[in-house]
Amino acid sequence: MLKDTSVLLDERRIFKPNYELVEEAHVKNWEAELEKGKDLEKYWAEKSEQFEWFKPWDKVLDESNKPFYKWFVNGKINLAYNAVDRWISTDKRNQVAILYVNERGEEKKLTYFELYREVNKMANALKNLGIKKGETVSMYLPMCPELLISMLACNKIGAMHSVVYSGLSVGAFVERMNDAKAKVLITADGTYRRGKIINLKNIVDEAVLQCPTIETIVVVNHTGSDIEVSDLSGREIFYDRLIEGESDECEAEEMDAEDPLFILYTSGSTGKPKGVLHTTAGYMVGVATTLKYVFDIHDGDLWWCTADIGWITGHSYVIYAPLLLGTTTLVYEGAPDFPDPGAWWNIVEKYGVTKFYTAPTAIRHLMRFGEKYPQIYNLSSLKVLGSVGEPINPEAWMWFYKNIGKEKTPIMDTWWQTETGMHLISPLPVANLKPGSATLPLPGIDADVVDEKGNSVPLGKGGYLVIKKPWPAMFRTLYEDEERFVNVYWKEFPQGFYRAGDMARKDEDGYYWIQGRSDDVLKIAGHRVGTSEVESSFVSHSAVAEAAVIGKSDPIKGQVIKAFLILREGYELNTSLIEDLKKHVRYELGPVAVLGEIEQVDKLPKTRSGKIMRRILRAQEEGEELGDTSTLEE
Ligand code: WT7
Repeated sequence: MLKDTSVLLDERRIFKPNYELVEEAHVKNWEAELEKGKDLEKYWAEKSEQFEWFKPWDKVLDESNKPFYKWFVNGKINLAYNAVDRWISTDKRNQVAILYVNERGEEKKLTYFELYREVNKMANALKNLGIKKGETVSMYLPMCPELLISMLACNKIGAMHSVVYSGLSVGAFVERMNDAKAKVLITADGTYRRGKIINLKNIVDEAVLQCPTIETIVVVNHTGSDIEVSDLSGREIFYDRLIEGESDECEAEEMDAEDPLFILYTSGSTGKPKGVLHTTAGYMVGVATTLKYVFDIHDGDLWWCTADIGWITGHSYVIYAPLLLGTTTLVYEGAPDFPDPGAWWNIVEKYGVTKFYTAPTAIRHLMRFGEKYPQIYNLSSLKVLGSVGEPINPEAWMWFYKNIGKEKTPIMDTWWQTETGMHLISPLPVANLKPGSATLPLPGIDADVVDEKGNSVPLGKGGYLVIKKPWPAMFRTLYEDEERFVNVYWKEFPQGFYRAGDMARKDEDGYYWIQGRSDDVLKIAGHRVGTSEVESSFVSHSAVAEAAVIGKSDPIKGQVIKAFLILREGYELNTSLIEDLKKHVRYELGPVAVLGEIEQVDKLPKTRSGKIMRRILRAQEEGEELGDTSTLEE
């Protein structure tokens, strides 16, 4: 049903750029731009000029203490000032900055001037709650204007935010909250999803019992539920009440280029989630530049990135990059297929979206409902499409290209990560495209595919994806864990390359084909789910003695979880236990952890040192050769 054999048979088909688009594009000559980007420091120095600095930097890049790189040394700047304040003295003052739309068809528009005042009020309110420069504010919010406002308010006063995706549940929430040690948590009563209201406050109530650092909980009354002031505990306050009477003026804090900006947690294959730390100026330069060039943003664009703000895609490309460019960002709350599978295309038509950025899993999901839905709507406003989160299979690429882009609109397949902060491998609209390939590293980025020793592999061969030179929006460390930062990312290759954790292949034209993770991290609907997090949630169930999980291919989600469990004495894997285990994992981790199958086993393959060899389980599952088993226990 999903097969488009013309593509599968001829994956090497090349799609030429749309010349009308190229004529007005920022970059008209890809090769020339790539050439310019080879002088990395000069290239990024130039890009830093788009911002207003309180004090200019002295040095573009400081490499004296690898891998602790510093960008734009000694520069002073403020993100919120550049994303909001800067525009209110221009003719963008009354332009819509945030266009919030939800699945019920409700909308809310905030102009740059309105956003400015809201951010200032919240910034002042946070100060009154005792938040100081360098401290962390946590957020567990749906896609609502208050989330963007709160994040910008943190930037304005120099506080860090730590946003936890509202699709994560109690266990995942507690772990992230306690690692970041925030005093203030901002949350909401609920969120709209597929015609229902998901109660977030219940999850928070339960989770915060285990979060000792939280002193104040700010509650956005988002869905207009019937919670009243009298329902709130002594440390809880409604958002509206909190900002009431606050001044709508607030001086932007002068931040050092390298001052921390935010923490965002992501999963690894072992241990607790990693608190990826981003800093100020380099991040600003990286995200704004990539959005501008990859999606060719101009005045008058209506930008829509469908990612949730709780992930890096949302941080970088729903909120920060578009506002730093002074464009209008559409923020959508709801499901892609509610009230029907034409919901997104309806929004594109209704508002005239020009640039649209989504994930392969969403495309595959919407493909199932056929061409009928996109055909109902006029999608002619679209000029550039984008994809992110996992490799996009050529069939999904072709469907997107034909049915949404009408064969006129190029698809930017952007490869990047929570850690990279910004796109690193991606075409520009001027590029020749091959469905399924992220094409080439962007100008100013030095990436490669290498063998175990770090030597470049010949064209046509596969290997490990590495980034050889620092880039401005790179993460600077893992929060309070420098050792892990160095060990996980920078130790593997003696040359000091950044190890991305992905396998890739370069074809005969040097185009990159990303082949998936080289570690045990799962990609479920484009979300990174750590095997160890899932395993420990299984083991926290009274029936489970030991657990190992692997990814199993799924036509829509990319991967789902397959779990191998050793049960405790007296338990057997019947339907009621399976249901209970599913509920338990969902409670601990949230709906991101999609369980495919559970299998009961007596033993798990382990190394002699006791590490689970998931590779063996995967090979067994796919009916493949077991490979090297010399370290296997027995
Ligand atoms: C991992 C990073 C960066 C935003 C969303 C995910 C995979 C991401 C692509 C792409 C092939 C991709 C990689 C990467 N990935 N984009 N265009 N083609 N794979 O961020 O959760 O940090 O995950 O997502 O495996 O390592 P993340």
